[in-house]
Parts: sequence; C-alpha cells; structure tokens
Amino acid sequence: MENQLQILQAEALQEMQQAQTVAALNELKVKYLGKKGSLTAVLRGMGALSPEERPRIGALVNEVRAKLEALLEERAGALKAAELQERLEKETIDITLAGRASFNGHVHPLMLTLDRIKAVFMRMGFAVAEGPEVEEDSYNFEALNLPPDHPARDMQDTFYITPELLLRTHTSPVQARVMQASEPNSPVRIIAPGKVYRCDYDATHSPMFHQVEGLVIDKEINFADLKGTLELFIREIFGANTGVRFRPSFFPFTEPSAEVDISCVICQGKGCRVCKQTGWLEILGSGMVHPRVLELSGYDPNKVQGFAFGMGVERIAMLLYRIDDLRLFYENDVRFLRQF
Ligand code: PHE
Repeated sequence: MENQLQILQAEALQEMQQAQTVAALNELKVKYLGKKGSLTAVLRGMGALSPEERPRIGALVNEVRAKLEALLEERAGALKAAELQERLEKETIDITLAGRASFNGHVHPLMLTLDRIKAVFMRMGFAVAEGPEVEEDSYNFEALNLPPDHPARDMQDTFYITPELLLRTHTSPVQARVMQASEPNSPVRIIAPGKVYRCDYDATHSPMFHQVEGLVIDKEINFADLKGTLELFIREIFGANTGVRFRPSFFPFTEPSAEVDISCVICQGKGCRVCKQTGWLEILGSGMVHPRVLELSGYDPNKVQGFAFGMGVERIAMLLYRIDDLRLFYENDVRFLRQF
C-alpha cells in the first residue's frame, strides 16, 4: 500500500507540474482528490488493513494529500497570473490613437426659419393651429370657394389619393377647419404651419415643402390690418429697412387679393440676377377673406371680416440664408447642415 501511495504521489506531482491551464489543474484535483479520486480510493481501501497499519497509512495518506493540495494551490496561482497577463496583453488599448470626433445635432435651417416666423406671430398674439396633410377635397378646395369644375384648381398640381382625398396643396384648408371648429363669428387669430405637396420638381420646386398660413377674423378687420401685420412681420424677419410692396393678385378664397414683395435681399432693390433686375422678390400671397369662404364655414360676412395670408418657408429660408438651390434642404448633407 505504501508503494501504491508513493507511485500515486509521484504521478500526481508530475502531472500537476505539467498542467498548462487552470482548467487542466482543476481536472487533476478531481482525478486525485475528488470524491471518486485515486487518493480517496486508497482511504476507502484502508478497511482491509490491520489495526496496527491503519494509523500509519492514514497519516501517510494525509501527508500525500497535503503535498498535492499545496502544489495544486501553488500551480493554480501561477497559472492564473500567467493567464491574466496574457489577457491583459491582448486587451491593451492604444491610448495614443486619436479619438473620433463627434458632432452635436442641431436644428435644421428650415425649422430654424419656421421657429423665427412663429416667434414673430406669437408675439403679436397669434395661436398655432394644425391640420392633416392627407386632406379632404372639401377642405382643400370646396370650402375655399373652389367648386369641382373651378379653373383655378389647375393652378395647383394636386396629388390625389382618391377622388375625395388628396395631399393638401396648401395650408389654407386649416382656415376652414379652424372656423368650423369655432363658435360661428367668434374671433380667430391663428397661424398654421405645416407640410404641403404639389406635383412639381426642379431647383426651386420640391413636391413637398412648407407653408405658414395666417388667418385673422374679427369685427371690422380691414385691409390696413392686413398691411400692418405683414409689414411688421417682414421687418422683424428681414430687417427694419426692408422695402415692402403690395401687388394686386387673385386667389379664389380672398377678395381683394395681394401678393407681397420685399426689396431684394441681395441688391437692396438695385436690380440683380436673383430679383431678375426688378429689385423685388415675391414672398407671400394674401387677401381679405372672401365672403363666400366665411359663409361656407358658418361665419356671417355681414358681422365679421378677416384677412388671410400664406407663405413658403423654404423661400424665406433661401432669402434669409442666401441659398440658391432648394434641394440642399432635403439632401441632409452634413457639410451643408453644419453651417447653421
Ligand atoms: N394658399 C395660397 C397658396 O398656396 C396662399 C394664400 C393663402 C393666398 C391665404 C391668400 C390667402 O398659394
């Protein structure tokens, strides 16, 4: 039995010395010292020994166990340190490598422009209203005094979804929606910003663009109110020295109607390529709300009057920031967007 123990110890010590990983070491621990391990087997066999031999062999077994355990511990420590060292070497970060710069996101130039427009009107006491982009023909056209066969429908290239449903071609349907949702003849003072759609595409037209509608209704609202409001707006946005001109025009939903020009932001009215030598740039459509439009939405044109206007946000942004191609707003090229 002593011999057997000697051999076992020698074998175990050798294998433990040779083990290359912590896992292999654990396997050896099970093989020799585990419940079903070789050394445990020797202990079990001690029942067959004579009472005199038993204590001696017992002590010997304990000695061997202690030696094996000590070596296991020492080797495990060494292997763990080696494995950690190896991992650390593999995982090292090269802190001398330059980092990748990150940029903050920010507001798109169109929304920046819209925010400025909104701020001016909100200071004048306007509320902000909204309407759907998928609109009913009855709001987009009929309520605005454009019956089904009206020739002015051709002015706008409409995207139809069904014969009754379309993508709104302007924000004017919000006029009708606001009036219909209000107590008849109650005062209105709103702007309605949002996306509109027209079947059109080139350097100055996009099939989707943004408008801001305005509607004011009250007793005795007149053309002077329209002029005063829009002149103030224009000078807040483009500067106090901007020239403003009202030009007669036509819209089915306003009468009289006027288009509003500002003195050219590039040449200050002297005449250049941008204003086609006229010195003026058109920036919005406006007029006194047509009596028929008031009636169609439940208002009484004998009791209240109003004015309305509509402007393109892209156009104003292009003039404010001197941008000559509309498509830059939609391409999301960060080299362009970062400049605002
Ligand atoms: N809806 C008109 C357009 O899109 C603009 C407008 C609005 C004109 C309100 C007069 C009054 O061209």
